[in-house]
Amino acid sequence: MIRLLFVCLGNICRSPLAEGLVIHHAKQQGILDRLEIDSAGTGAWHIGNPPDSRSIAVAEKHGVDISGQKARKIKQDDFDLYDYLFAMDKSNLADLRSLSPDEHHGKIRLFTHYGEGQKDQEVPDPYYDDGFDDVYAMIDHAAEQLVLHLKETHFGDGYT
Ligand code: 4NP
Repeated sequence: MIRLLFVCLGNICRSPLAEGLVIHHAKQQGILDRLEIDSAGTGAWHIGNPPDSRSIAVAEKHGVDISGQKARKIKQDDFDLYDYLFAMDKSNLADLRSLSPDEHHGKIRLFTHYGEGQKDQEVPDPYYDDGFDDVYAMIDHAAEQLVLHLKETHFGDGYT
């Protein structure tokens, strides 16, 4: 079992899309039963809330349902429990690094780390400028590339 946590600021716009799209691609690649997936925010403003209606809408447009998610804040246990913590931007990355015990720093990276053509780019915060279509496309690509990477490196080519 590989445990993956996707982290942004509010846990209502970007990381819910990352969670939903990694689940979607993992299902397509037949590895969903090998993964445990969640998302969290570094901020506490939206705890308990569903994703932003614009994230729900853009996912729904592509046939992905993220409406059942609930926002939560990152907690210390997450650094022990999860194998990888993926930050959406460099500010989330810095926050995670400062919260993390030193021995778990190696688990933290940018979400786009494995994305061909987008390596280590930031997923911009769409909350105030409404760039949900662009953010969706970026997250979809990064999610697919991450799933392919995990499949290749952890589960072998023959795994179906
Ligand atoms: P997210 O977007 O980090 O992608 O969930 C944001 C959502 C809410 C706020 C900021 C960013 N906020 O300031 O409330």
